[in-house]
Amino acid sequence: MQTNLKLDKVALITGGASGIGLSIAEKMYAAGCQIAIADIDEKKARSAVDSMEARDSQKKIAIQADLSNFASIREMVAVCQKELGAVDILVNNAGFQHVSPIETYDPATFQKMIEVMLVGPFVATQAVFAQMKQRGWGRIINISSINGKIGAPFKAGYCSAKHGIIGLTRVTAMEAADSGVTCNAICPGYVDTPLVRNQLADLAKSYQVPEEEVLEEVILRNVPQHRLLEAGEIGEFAVFLASDQAAAITGQAINISGGYVMH
Ligand SMILES: NC(=O)c1ccc[n+]([C@@H]2O[C@H](COP(=O)([O-])OP(=O)(O)OC[C@H]3O[C@@H](n4cnc5c(N)ncnc54)[C@H](O)[C@@H]3O)[C@@H](O)[C@H]2O)c1
Repeated sequence: MQTNLKLDKVALITGGASGIGLSIAEKMYAAGCQIAIADIDEKKARSAVDSMEARDSQKKIAIQADLSNFASIREMVAVCQKELGAVDILVNNAGFQHVSPIETYDPATFQKMIEVMLVGPFVATQAVFAQMKQRGWGRIINISSINGKIGAPFKAGYCSAKHGIIGLTRVTAMEAADSGVTCNAICPGYVDTPLVRNQLADLAKSYQVPEEEVLEEVILRNVPQHRLLEAGEIGEFAVFLASDQAAAITGQAINISGGYVMH
């Protein structure tokens, strides 16, 4: 999918230093946006920004931000506003995975996942919402997962956060419905990023299969298209959701999963 859409907007992407978030940042920059890449890993965020071709008409900045810290989230939005202007497009993407059976799942890790992938996006939404509504245009794109629609063994924290953010998406969409602001969730299947590659060893342990068989036996066997997705496939779709062509799409949780989940 190559949208070739033009977007003259300010986009703030959390977790934008790697994987899906980086691809969304690159595609939105290519479409014409000013870009803020916010990430807990400042060095990676800076090198992501540096890797994007410089253009006179567009700014691109890196912001260090921890999505589990309210003050840091509010500061992230304030820095973006000061450097680039008011946030037109907020992409709540930062996240991480943890794989463990419930019996041994560390509650502190469960809590952290809810903070980073549910409470953080709420606080970020809160920080941009009033000005988006006042200006009569805005896009909030929440990166959920197919694990926001279906359960997966050994992913209690992740599935809980990703189900939760679909609820937040629907409420945000309803509260914004008469203001030109839309809110949608993208629910990717397995995308070839460090988040997926780094969980293979733990999945092997939890499913008790050899690590070299995890991709085939645990992941791809459930995917009708039988492949890992490319981050760019999510990035292109995010650009479409941010465009005026998608103005009527709101409150949706849209799967991009190679057919893995169909509801
Ligand atoms: N890769 C997949 O298959 C897949 C599938 C469905 C959903 N997702 C979701 O997509 C999003 C991006 O995942 P990815 O696969 O690109 O992973 P990734 O590991 O490549 O990137 C995640 C980024 O989030 C950042 N991050 C983590 N904790 C943070 C925090 N507290 N504050 C700020 N930044 C933080 C990391 O530093 C990293 O740059 C996540 O929300 C993930 O759950 C991924």
